[in-house]
Order: sequence, then structure tokens, then C-alpha cells
Amino acid sequence: MEICVVGTGYVGLSCGVCFAKLGNRVTCVDIDENKIEMLKQGEVPIYEPEVKELLDMHSGKNLFFTTGLVEPVKKSNVVFIAVGTPSSEDGSVNLEYVKAAAADIGKAIDGYKVIVNKSTVPVGTGEIVESIISKHYKGEFDIVSNPEFLREGTAVSDFLKPDRIVIGCSSKRAMNIMKRLYSTIKAPILFTDIKSAELIKYASNAFLATKISFINEIANLCDIVGGNINSVADGMGLDKRIGREFLNAGIGFGGSCFPKDVKALISIARENGFDFRILRAVESVNSEQHLRAVEKLQDLVGPVNGKKIALLGLAFKPNTDDTREAPSIRIIEQLISMGAVVSVYDPKAMGAVQAIFENKLQFAENAYKCASGSDALMLITEWEEFKKLDLRKIRNVINKPNIIDGRNIYSRERLEMMGFNYRGVGR
Ligand code: UDX
Repeated sequence: MEICVVGTGYVGLSCGVCFAKLGNRVTCVDIDENKIEMLKQGEVPIYEPEVKELLDMHSGKNLFFTTGLVEPVKKSNVVFIAVGTPSSEDGSVNLEYVKAAAADIGKAIDGYKVIVNKSTVPVGTGEIVESIISKHYKGEFDIVSNPEFLREGTAVSDFLKPDRIVIGCSSKRAMNIMKRLYSTIKAPILFTDIKSAELIKYASNAFLATKISFINEIANLCDIVGGNINSVADGMGLDKRIGREFLNAGIGFGGSCFPKDVKALISIARENGFDFRILRAVESVNSEQHLRAVEKLQDLVGPVNGKKIALLGLAFKPNTDDTREAPSIRIIEQLISMGAVVSVYDPKAMGAVQAIFENKLQFAENAYKCASGSDALMLITEWEEFKKLDLRKIRNVINKPNIIDGRNIYSRERLEMMGFNYRGVGR
């Protein structure tokens, strides 16, 4: 099929290259000329492991990039809106990019198309997009909600091997086109109405965030009453109704989705006169979880002022360079405000943090240099390379053998035998 994807950010680009891999002819459109130029040169502006391979494989053959959407819309059967939906100041969802894309599509459309909301949008956005397009185009078209469930670092495999595909649409014609589009992907397809599809995305992310804040609170309780959070999570997870995934306690969830989507769902509820109390608690727990690690730091080193603290990891999770809403940022701000000297190292995410903190931090070229001379080491992101560190070497270069394991990747017993003072999260 002929497909147009509007927006070449993390979602649009991942979807574009995957639709090309499925054999469609795909044109990805963006207003950012630099980004389009980079993509035409085969450069990927985001760190997403398999996107580059698919770009190299399909670009110029059945995958194209351009800044103008008129021609791509005219020749497409399906047009995906995959533009950003950032949080506004008050936590509500900023739909300006979605509305602008809908208007541009409305001006370009010249025959029946399926217009698909791929971006995470509040309930009711399908109707907004429909009314905007109808203002400019009086012919036939259908709106579909097809939310993405892509995780950073595994976006391509999440797209090609999803747990489920959700399609919200109100016409048989659109349903058949979407069925054909996804026919080669082996996964259950749930067809429902547009509003339910829009809500499934927020409800899924908010529930996963709830699981994380819940296990973080259980871990905080373990720190007081005893118990090992890993065993508790294992015991809980053996119950099929609960499941072990997303029960890893740590220093809180970050990223461009969970924090934004939890805020958005609270805001969507509030705008409709409903107080989503559980989610307010989920957000409140998460906003303070990183402070638990700072308290443990103070417990080990005493007053932080003037002390050198080494942070291993900056990205909001491993296998990405994304530091949006990352706990590392909140911890760095806290430590700097307390007068600490902070050194940081991350395999991929140093650039983003350099741009934020410039000369306020020491940027080390590897984990050992980062730890060298420090009064404590804080494990922030569970990169594979940190799991394989030579901890004896760390012990030799560190000034004081204190380690706060923010993602519970080390063995307390092993580190204590090596002479470290160890603090984990709930263990
Ligand atoms: C998430 C959803 O998983 C995905 O389905 C949705 O489409 C987009 O948002 P992403 O934000 O890329 O994906 O990352 P994810 O792997 O879900 O992790 C989100 C955050 O939760 C990270 O900061 C991670 O460290 C944290 N997390 C995750 C935990 O703290 N504990 C866990 O057990 C799992």
C-alpha cells in the first residue's frame, strides 16, 4: 500500500521504516528540513538500534523522505499522524502539532483516504481531527485511532512483534484497509470504537506506571521493615494475574511517555470533572523516589557538601540516549543544590546532559574515571556494561567504598565482601 507518515520523530520514523519492511511504499514527511536531509543521507537522528538497518535497506527503494506533504497525501491510501503530543504547563496534552497536521492533510486530500492517529492523543482527538479535515475537504475519508505501544530501545521489535494491535474505527471500509495493512503481523487485532482505542493507550501506560510506583513503595517499605524486594517481586509475579514484568524497584520511571501520559490522563479526567486519585498518588510517589537514593547517600557519606559523587548512567533506561524526565537529571539537580561535586558517565546519553549542565558537572570518559576519587558511587541506569564492571578496580580507584545501587543490579553480599558499604532499593 501507499503510506504517508507525518512526523519523523521516534514514533513516526520507527513506524515508517517498519511499514517499508512490510512491503509498503512509504513517504515520511517532516517540517524540519534538517531532519529530512539527515534521513535522506541515511543518518538516524534518534538512537534506536534497528531503525538504521531498515533505513539503509529501504531508503530510496520503497522508503522516501520529504518536507512537503501534499504529494505524499494525494498518492497515499493511508496517512499516519505521528507528530509530537507534548505536555503543556498544566499537564494537559498539547495538540497543536496534531491539529496543524490535520489541517495540512485536509488541504492536500483529494480522494478517499484513511487518516490514522498514531500519536498518543486524548479521548476525543479523533473527532477533532475529523472536524478539521472536513473544514477543508468535503469528500469521503475515515478516521482511525491506532495507538503505538513502542518502547525506546526496542521500537522495531515492538512494532513487528506486538502483544496486540488496537484499531479504533467506525467504518467497515477503514477496518478492511487496516486489516490488510497489518495482515502480515502475527498478533491479536482488537477492533473497537475510536474513543476506546484512544483510552487503551493511556490506560495501558498509566497502569504500567502504577505497577512501578507500587513496587517502589513496597521497596521503600522493605527498607524499613526488612524483606528483599526481588523476592517479593518474584513471589508476586508468579501470580499470572500480576506478572513479573514492570515490578523492578528503582529510582523511578522517566522517559517521554510514562510521566507525560500519567499527567495527561490525570488532566483529561480533571477536565471532565473526575479526580483520578490513584494516578495522582502514582505521580507523587515517582516524583520523590529519586530522593530515597539521595537519603541513602547521605546516610553513607554524611553531609554531601564538597563531597565528590559519581553517577553511573544518565539515560532514563538502558539502550537509549534519551534523558527526558530521567531520574538522573533530578538527582544531579539535588546534588548540585547540596554543594556536591558531581561526575557522570553514560555510554550514550552524555551529549544531552552536557547541553543541560555544561560546566557544572565533570564528564568522565568511562566508569572507572567517573568513580576515581569519589566519596560514593550511584548506579542510576542499568546499562549492561555497568553490570560487567570490574568492581575490584572500582574499589581501588574510589576514595570511599560507598555504593548506592539505584537499579538493584549488584549483589549486596558480593560488594560487602569486597569492602563496599552497599545500599540498594528495598534489599
Ligand atoms: C513505555 C511503554 O513501555 C511503551 O509501551 C509505550 O509505548 C511508551 O512508554 P518507554 O517509556 O520507552 O516505553 O520505556 P519502558 O521500558 O516502559 O520504561 C519506562 C520507565 O520505567 C524507565 O525509566 C524504566 O527505568 C522504568 N521502569 C520500567 C522501572 O522503573 N521498573 C520497571 O520494572 C520497568
